[in-house]
Amino acid sequence: MPVMETAQAGGQARFLTPAPPRPKGPLGPISFLAGMWNNPLATWSEESFRVPYIQTDSVMGRICIAHDPAAVRRVFVDHVANYRKDKLQLRVLSPGLGNGLLTAEGELWKAQRRALAPLFTPRAIDAFQPAMVASARWLIERWSPLRDGRRLDIAAEMSRATLEVLQRTIFPAGLKRDPGEFARAMSRYFERLGQVHPFDIIGLPKWAPRIGKRDTSNELTFFGEAIAELLAERRETAADSNAATPRDLLGLLLAARDPQTGIGLTEAEINANILTFIGAGHETTAGALTWSLYLLSQREDWRAQVEAEAAAVLQDGFEAPGAIDRLEKTRATFEEALRLYPPAATLSREALEADTLGGRSVRAGETVIISPWVLHRHQLLWERPDEFLPERFMPGVREKIDRFAYLPFGAGPRVCIGGGFAMREGVILLAAIVQKFRFNLAPGHVVTPVQRITLRPKGGMPMILKRR
Ligand code: HEM
Repeated sequence: MPVMETAQAGGQARFLTPAPPRPKGPLGPISFLAGMWNNPLATWSEESFRVPYIQTDSVMGRICIAHDPAAVRRVFVDHVANYRKDKLQLRVLSPGLGNGLLTAEGELWKAQRRALAPLFTPRAIDAFQPAMVASARWLIERWSPLRDGRRLDIAAEMSRATLEVLQRTIFPAGLKRDPGEFARAMSRYFERLGQVHPFDIIGLPKWAPRIGKRDTSNELTFFGEAIAELLAERRETAADSNAATPRDLLGLLLAARDPQTGIGLTEAEINANILTFIGAGHETTAGALTWSLYLLSQREDWRAQVEAEAAAVLQDGFEAPGAIDRLEKTRATFEEALRLYPPAATLSREALEADTLGGRSVRAGETVIISPWVLHRHQLLWERPDEFLPERFMPGVREKIDRFAYLPFGAGPRVCIGGGFAMREGVILLAAIVQKFRFNLAPGHVVTPVQRITLRPKGGMPMILKRR
């Protein structure tokens, strides 16, 4: 529930960012399963935000909830070989995304990561910048005919805009379907996939019917047909010896070889990766942009500064030397939105062998849960954790943030491959938007974050457009 406390020292209104109410104590098994189905964010007890470790026997088996930067570092970096993606996560993501880069393990993961890395180097991101700027212009033009006072679902608009970026960068051959329809299908797919069924949590076999779980087969058929067309077209181009094969995601996936065996990826692995990159690559950034615009609307003093920064820096366009680096307040806003509403709200791993985290014994097979949602709002790690204070990410202050207390993109070898891409895209789109438009929340709308694979506002984010 959104809470606004007004009676603060100095008379300054204090805005507490919307979050589901926190249960006072740990939930019983039935409430926990119901919570995971409705909104996993609402299952985190008050205590989770106060203590670094909670270890317990749950319906998921033995779990260790660790919100201590030292444990984060051990699991994701120092002792990473002892931790693999856990079964629940794989069960939830396997329809469609199975064996793509996000879910693959071992040698298959390594071969895919090595093959795709060239698309996300700092140089590659520089090369994508003009396409990101062109997408921002496209968005501004899309809104230009609209009158002041027009209500827009900013969540849907951001989804559409970030899909546009993907189409102009890593999928230059397009997605073979109407992009608006594609964005809506992806949103539905995540909505359905992300309702975590009790049977998945307790680990019942696949054949046990998941009653109540909404089917994703229509969406998967839609994606499958689009991907098949995309691949057929590319194979045709490849067969024509005069045509240059583009070095895009598809080209790299088709050229990927296992260094030991020389064998390429299977059709299913290629499909899973295309879907992974479309899903992981646009819903996440779209969410961060949506929350950024919402949060700006709640702090007019800061919004005025971000608008002034965009006006000053963008006088000579994004191409002016150092323009991106000078968008400091825009970047701080985006990073603070990623702190308060991390699109990947829960990360989890399974210990292969027994280990020790913060002096606690972790058994072989135990699930370790590290939730950026909790970590980023933890009382031991952040000052005024539930408030929107982008100042904490400004140069000179940001350096004090512990690398392992802030995990929007994860950490270690499995850190988000698209992190640098998303940051560049986020800063460009946000600056371009605030330069031309100002958005306020639609009157009466109650903002509630909900976790459905990615963290999103329940029912969208209706906002009122105003030209600047
Ligand atoms: C704000 C935007 C984004 C956020 C918050 C985000 C977050 C994350 C996180 C936390 C992980 C690690 C998951 C884990 O350790 O279990 C991850 C992995 C991944 N992300 Fe992102 N992501 C974003 C944007 C992108 C973009 C733009 C792309 C691609 C264009 C992308 C593609 C991927 C892929 C393929 C992986 C799996 C990497 C691997 O396991 O090797 N993400 N992302």
